[in-house]
Amino acid sequence: GIAHDFNNMLAVIIGFTERAQDLAYDQPFDRKQLLESLDHVLKAAERSSDLCRRILSFSRRQVFDPQVLDLKALVADTEPMLSRVLGEQVDLTYVLPRQAYALVDPAQLEQAVLNLALNARDAMPQGGKLLIELKTVDLDEEGARAHHLEQGSYAVLAVSDTGAGMDAVTLKQVFEPFFTTKSAARGTGLGLSMVKGLVKQSGGHIYVYSEPGLGTTFKLYFPRQPEPGAEALTLLPLAQPRRDNHEMVLVVEDEALLSAMVTKTLERAGFTVLSAPSAEAALELVAAIDPPLDLVLTDLVMPGMNGRDLAACLRKQHPRLEVLFMSGYSDNLFAQGELRRGVNFLEKPMSAAVLVAQVQQLLDRRARNTPG
Ligand SMILES: Nc1ncnc2c1ncn2[C@@H]1O[C@H](COP(=O)(O)OP(=O)(O)OP(=O)(O)O)[C@@H](O)[C@H]1O
Ligand SMILES: [Mg+2]
Repeated sequence: GIAHDFNNMLAVIIGFTERAQDLAYDQPFDRKQLLESLDHVLKAAERSSDLCRRILSFSRRQVFDPQVLDLKALVADTEPMLSRVLGEQVDLTYVLPRQAYALVDPAQLEQAVLNLALNARDAMPQGGKLLIELKTVDLDEEGARAHHLEQGSYAVLAVSDTGAGMDAVTLKQVFEPFFTTKSAARGTGLGLSMVKGLVKQSGGHIYVYSEPGLGTTFKLYFPRQPEPGAEALTLLPLAQPRRDNHEMVLVVEDEALLSAMVTKTLERAGFTVLSAPSAEAALELVAAIDPPLDLVLTDLVMPGMNGRDLAACLRKQHPRLEVLFMSGYSDNLFAQGELRRGVNFLEKPMSAAVLVAQVQQLLDRRARNTPG
């Protein structure tokens, strides 16, 4: 488990720091041994920081922004990514006969399919088959009781592999946070907790079937929703003109998962999105292609140049550029009175709806302030 890993790392750090102190008092002291001890301290600290990063990115992924969406389309969209990460050893097949609408967060659904596929890959080191199937089932009273669900119609996403399978002891614990049978470098034990969290938040349920040596199937049940139709559109507040979101946004964020989520959200909303993992990379990109930027959405605190300096640099070339900062360090900054929440600042983790609304609001304000 992760707490265990952390304690181990701390024990290593404490132990080798004490040893380094002892060595430093030796007369004459052994520089080589001292440096070795410090090296162990550094490695253990780096390893702890890696663990910490994984927990944080896991909790960020838990921001839930559900929409009624077609699972068929969402699942089909994962194909290019999965075939890339699974490699040629794994024979990947999708069976998606028909549309099925459910209440899901699209970014999380994608992440869930990825987690299941990565687990399958890990269970098939020699290669094998991975089948991703979407079906619909109607559960009558009896069927519903057997599945611990309400009576009704469900979309069932089944992910099956021909891998190592699990014994009964493992099977009992798979959904527990931080349960893993993998080495610390390979698994944190959070993948399936995330998948379960997603299904639960959609009002569904997850099941696992596994036979040692034969393979494993995960089944995700989502209550079906009616296809969002014309009547839903008329409910939009009339005062709010529909935007076409044609503008170009530059996203600067060093956390790859978060960057992918933000980029995808803005693209879905219709914006053209460029992204860079650091302020330096962003400046290089802008210098190279000179894009007609309308807004930059940047992390405030990044290794290297920070978001504020980046914004100042970009504004020299694009005086009308709108700037929206995002950060997890909000409270410190508010204390310094530098930023106004809800104006040009987004606190991480943010929901997709808030993100899109804030970007639109800034761009609308700019349009109003532009003469002509
Ligand atoms: N398809 C599978 N086949 C065999 N065992 C599996 C499968 N999926 C999950 N498991 C078992 O369940 C454990 C927990 O899975 P989970 O995805 O939660 O964590 P992880 O893969 O170990 O780490 P992480 O996903 O955080 O990198 C795995 O360590 C593995 O033992
Ligand atoms: Mg996993």
